[in-house]
This record gives sequence, structure tokens and C-alpha cells, in this order.
Amino acid sequence: MKIFIKTYGCQMNERDSEAAEAMLSAEGHEIVGSENEADVVILNTCSVRDQAERKAIGKTGIMKGLLGVRQVYFGIMGCMAQSRGEELLKTIPHLNFAVGTDRINELPVIVANLHPGCKCLCVEPDTICDARGLDSHCLKGNFKAYITVMRGCNRFCSYCIVPFVRGRERSRSPESILEEARSLAAAGVCEIMLLGQNVAAYGLENGRFPKEGESPFADLLEKLAEIDGIRRIRFTSPHPAFFNDRLIDCIAHTPKVCKAIHLPLQSGSDRILKLMNRPYTRDEYLSIVRRLKERCGEKNIAFSTDIIVGFPGETEEDFQETVKVMEEVRYDLAFIFKYSPRKGTRSSLIPDDVPQEEKERRNQVLLQVLEKESATGNARFEGEILELIAEGPSKRNPARWCGRTELNKLAVFTPHREIRPGDTVKVRIVRSTPLTLFGELC
Ligand code: 5AD
Ligand code: SF4
Repeated sequence: MKIFIKTYGCQMNERDSEAAEAMLSAEGHEIVGSENEADVVILNTCSVRDQAERKAIGKTGIMKGLLGVRQVYFGIMGCMAQSRGEELLKTIPHLNFAVGTDRINELPVIVANLHPGCKCLCVEPDTICDARGLDSHCLKGNFKAYITVMRGCNRFCSYCIVPFVRGRERSRSPESILEEARSLAAAGVCEIMLLGQNVAAYGLENGRFPKEGESPFADLLEKLAEIDGIRRIRFTSPHPAFFNDRLIDCIAHTPKVCKAIHLPLQSGSDRILKLMNRPYTRDEYLSIVRRLKERCGEKNIAFSTDIIVGFPGETEEDFQETVKVMEEVRYDLAFIFKYSPRKGTRSSLIPDDVPQEEKERRNQVLLQVLEKESATGNARFEGEILELIAEGPSKRNPARWCGRTELNKLAVFTPHREIRPGDTVKVRIVRSTPLTLFGELC
């Protein structure tokens, strides 16, 4: 059968879609690039914000148009399938299956058994705490790969639906992760991205915080760095409460660990952080940033973050605290979200009292701060020679190539000799914009 998977949401979903595609191709199905050619259309859904859910539901409506033409089967996977699969199968007549976040391994069997009018729900959580269903299957002849190291989240930030949808934290064994990384390296992968909803809590049982000097996640990073062929290691998303000195030192002292650190702030106001059930203060957060900058060198590290504006009760003073932290850290990248209440979470019980227009205004203010900081941030590389891993021709201008620096900066250059994706090249940066560096191949 011809299968099309459309992915919404985070990198975990991207990785799951790749894994699903690889499993389905191994069964002889063909993965196609558009719903118009497909016999089976699968939406990999996200529940984190209301907007993401509405988009996916809207899309299932559009898909209905395909039905008059030929037999097409529709399914959903991912977070919305997990949390609302049963209800959606009942209310969307042309929806044939819903596969939960722990059950993607069952997709080949489900697809093999599709028949007109079928309704298949497969969402029970996987209670087995090790590798089952977690191994990566994905490798599209690429030099980069995702590796899921843990799943689930025990933190219960008051606004967040993830712990309800993705269940409790469970980590893979270091052996299975190392084995996977070695086989990826043998297949030509040089850059790995470690994934987990609370990735720095890797290997800590029952959601406990690490003791001083302890970080199973740092141990894992160091072991992975010993693998020949792996040149860069990235990870997402860590929670600041799991950054202790052990992890900070490991990042600073392990050259292969990229110093592009995603450190979700959510808010710069201690009062709002408390209401969000984020167990750190603004000063503790800034202390992590300061220690990382000190140990890596301020020029050699880049920070990115997630911020929510318009959390219930967020005043102008609270918001200004967030602005101050943004100015102090000088993020290279920030994902700014307008608060959206999610059913079942603790904060959904508090009135969503910041008007939509005010959320929009705060969002715009932060975007402006970000643009200013990231423009000066990128300008710091002008005149420098940076090492890139070449990715391929630029989408805008195929005569030029793009690549990424260790700090995950996109850099564009003209390849005046033969270069293959995955090659390391040196580029002298001559110009920059807030999002892109432009350079000459050395
Ligand atoms: N409203 C707005 N943003 C949210 N996020 C999570 N839940 C919500 C919500 N209810 C944001 C957080 C998180 C990112 C993935 O999505 O910033 O880090
Ligand atoms: Fe959600 Fe908080 Fe867990 Fe991140 S750490 S997934 S924001 S509950």
C-alpha cells in the first residue's frame, strides 16, 4: 500500500514518524510524499497546545474529500491518538485507527488488517520500562539520527499535558543506547540527537532529582562520546532542575557534546514559576547559564529556550521579569508560546485571565527582544573561521550549500570543490543575519 504520514509537533514525533515509515517500508509498503497518492494517510498528532489539536482535527476534515475518489484509510498516531483516540474514532466516521505513543510498533499489523469501515484503537500504555518500542528504526541514508533515550515525564508542570499523555518516565538501558549509536555510526551517522521529554532525568528512578556529583545522563553522554565516528552529540529537552555541576562539567569537558543548550525557562518570574510547578527560581536558572558560560567560554556556547506568555495571573511585572532574563541570557533561539489551558492539567482550574490580545502583545515583545539579541549574537561570528558539517544545497539557492556549526547555526557557503553531505568543512564567516551566517569556504 502507499502510505503518507504527516507529522505535527516535536522532535519525538518526527522521530516516531521516521520509525513508523521505516517499519512500514520493511513490510513492503511504499512511503509517499502526499495524501493525494496515498491509500493510507496517518496524522502524527500533538496535544501540547490547543492549536495543534485543532490543526490535526481540521486536517482530518480536509482528508474526507479524498474519500469520494477511492478507498483511502485514515489513522492517527501520537499524543492526540493517545489521549483522545477513543472519542475521535467514535466522532470522526472516516477515521479507521488510533495508535498511541507507546504502540507504534503495532502499525504494520494494523495496516495489514485494514478493511472498509474498520475502527481500531491501540493505545494502552506500555508498562515495560526498557527498550521495547524505543529502538530507533530510522536512517534515511542521513548523517544525522535521533535516538530516544527516555520517554514520559514525571514533572507535572501545572500547564502541561505531556505527563498525562506520555506517562511516567522510563529510560532505556545504557547498553541498548550505546549499541544503537554504534550501529548508526557504522552506517555513516556522525551526529546524534538524544531525545526524551525530560532527557536530563535519564536513568533516575521514580522521578527523583540527582544528588550532587551524580548524573546518569552525563555518564551516558561520556560513553557515547567514546564511539568512533560520532562527531556531534545534541540532546533535547532538558529540565533546568536536572542541571547539576556534574552535568555542567560533562558538557564543558566533552568536546563532542555540542554547546548549543536548550534550557526551557517558561517564565522569568519566581511567582509564576511556582504556579507553574517549576522547581527553580530565576536566580537558580541564571546560575546554570552563568556556570555554563564560564566553563565553556561565553563565545563558545549558545542557548535556546521555551517561554509561555499569559500564564493565568501573569502581571506586567511578572512579564517584565521574563524580558529581563531574556536580555541577560541573550538566547540565540526561543520558542514563545501563548498559554493555552489543557483539560486535566492543574492550571486549567485557574481562570485563563490574560486576554488574548495581551498574550499576543507579550509574544511580540519577546520576539523583538529575541531578534535584537540573536542579531548581535550572530554578528559575533563575523570574521571567524567556523567548522561546519555540510548538509546539502540550500533550498533558496541550490548553487549554494548550507551546513550547521557546533552551535547549530545555519551557515551558507558556495561549494567550489566537491563536497558531500556529512563532510566537515571550514568556512570564514563574512556576513550574518539573525538566523543565518554567510561564509566563504576555506
Ligand atoms: N500552553 C502554552 N504552551 C505550552 N507548552 C506546554 N504546555 C503549554 C500550554 N498549555 C510549551 C512549553 C513547553 C513547550 C514544548 O510547549 O513551553 O516547553
Ligand atoms: Fe511538560 Fe514540564 Fe514535563 Fe516538560 S518537564 S514535558 S513542560 S511536564
